[in-house]
Parts: sequence; structure tokens; C-alpha cells
Amino acid sequence: MSDKFFKLPSFAKINWFLRVLGKRADGFHELCTAFQAVSLADYLTFSEHEKLILTCSNQKIPTDERNLIIKAANILREKFNIKKGASIYLEKNIPAPGGLGGGSSNAATALLGLTKLWEIEIEFKEFLEIGARLGSDVPFFFYGGTAVGMGRGTEISTLPNFEEKYLLIVTPNVNVSTAQAFANLNAAHLTNKSPKSILALCRDFADDLNLRQSDLTNDFETTVFELEPEIKSAKEKLIDCGGKNALLSGSGASVFAIFDSEGSVQKATEQIRSEKDWRVFAVQTISREKYKNSLRVGEDLLLTNF
Ligand code: C5P
Repeated sequence: MSDKFFKLPSFAKINWFLRVLGKRADGFHELCTAFQAVSLADYLTFSEHEKLILTCSNQKIPTDERNLIIKAANILREKFNIKKGASIYLEKNIPAPGGLGGGSSNAATALLGLTKLWEIEIEFKEFLEIGARLGSDVPFFFYGGTAVGMGRGTEISTLPNFEEKYLLIVTPNVNVSTAQAFANLNAAHLTNKSPKSILALCRDFADDLNLRQSDLTNDFETTVFELEPEIKSAKEKLIDCGGKNALLSGSGASVFAIFDSEGSVQKATEQIRSEKDWRVFAVQTISREKYKNSLRVGEDLLLTNF
């Protein structure tokens, strides 16, 4: 009987901006986005087991092959010819779905944890490749902190950390399908620039980003607010309650806002909770260093290659 047993966080993300630049030949869309890791987190507990078993604190989350954790485990087992299983317990705190990257983050943490559990030697770029197969947001979760995502969202380049201590995330009780949100995007949102100019556009936008001004843009807002007006109300509520700047995260349904102080975050949290049945999370940004340090098993830093 082995004593291998460890617990890792799986952080959520928000998008400081999200521009959809065009439709690609493979059916995906060309994106330019700035990801930010935040302190809201799920937790994955790993232990050895002869079979592959996933259990979850939330009964609504599928624990079979539909779950990205199981998909990630199966890819690893196949690629590295692993005959062992694992028992994984998922403590779910990130709304799913919600535009906060919960499933993608779980997939990345599963890949990190399982390579440790199964003692697989893997290169950082292999994490990124397997991550991109699992979902467009997964590669970001091998970096954390603040980072630009381009292409499908899988081409990551790091940015200096943005620090915001007082963020409030609100998730109304409606679901938005990411595929549907992309499908509903109006052609007016899309540009057909060359890959080179897209890259330049994205970099410029990221370098000039000023969170305190009205730079926060998400191209999904118009269509998603039309599909689910309650999400628009959530954004307006955050502003009414003192939020300095509010934005849809990913394709929703979560929206976030920046606040000035702990007191104003607390007041807004209480007010929203007393009036609405929305989930409300007071969070902070997570720097890349803190992100990496949280992903330790014993003395080993799981993310060392960037
Ligand atoms: O990669 P992921 O599984 O997160 O994508 C979900 C869906 O969102 C895709 O099937 C596709 O319809 C859409 N999508 C897209 N362009 C992207 C990312 C996602 O059209 N860059």
C-alpha cells in the first residue's frame, strides 16, 4: 500500500479582454484575449488506486468520460502506456459552466497531478499539446498569472502580473453554451486580417491595457446579453454596487468587477446576496509566482519549465 496522497488547487480565470478576430478554416475562431488567474479554486485530491475513479462534491458534475479530468487521465495513460489507475476527488467551487475556465483548469491540474502520481517524465511543451487537445483554455492553466492567449486561445505569451485585490465575480443562474455563443457572433465582430497583423493587434492591445479605464472589452457581450438578459443585469448590478469596471468573463455567464477596497467589496457582496440568488465570489488576482508555488507536491514544484 502506497502513501501517495496529495491535494492541488485548480484556480479559476477571468478574461480582462476577449476579442474575436475571425473564423478559421478549422471552424474555430481566431482570438485575442488576456487571461487572469484568480483565487477562486477547485481542489483535486489524488491517491493511488488500481482503477481510474473520479468523485466530486457536486453531484451535478459528470464523473465519467465526459469530464475533462477523465479525458486527461486517459490521454496520459495511452500516451505513456500507464497501466495504473488513480482515485481523484474533485472539490467543486467554480461554477460550471460559467466562463471561469473551471473544467479547463481541472484538466490542467489533473495532468500535473497524474504525471506526479504516475511518475511520468514529461516535457512542458507536451503539457501544452495535450492541454490544447482537451480545450482552448487549458494551456493557460500551465502558466497562471496574467497572459495573452492567441490563435484558438492556446498560444500563450506571459504578461507582467496585473494586481487587483478587490474583484467580485457574480454568476447568475443561467447557462451559456460556448459553442452557441461563438455561433451567434455577428459577422460585424469579425475581421479578416493576416495572422501577422492579428498578432500585432493583440500585443498592442495587451500592452496598452488599462484596467481602470474603459479598455475592458468582450466581443461576446452583445450576443450573450441578448441570449440571457439576466447576465446584463448582473453587470449593471455590479456597477450600481460600486464596481469600477465590469465585464463578462469568457462567454459567460459570469461577470466580474474591480472594486476599490475590501469594505466596498463586502458591501456589494451583501447587497447582491440579499437581493438575488446569484453566486457571488470575492477574489484576488493570483500572480504567476504564487500560482506556481501553489502547485507543489512536497518539495517539488510541478511547473518549472517557464
Ligand atoms: O476548445 P473548447 O472545447 O473550449 O471550445 C468549445 C467550442 O467553442 C468549440 O467547439 C467551438 O465551437 C468554440 N470555439 C471557437 N473558437 C475558439 C474556441 C472555441 O469557435 N477559439
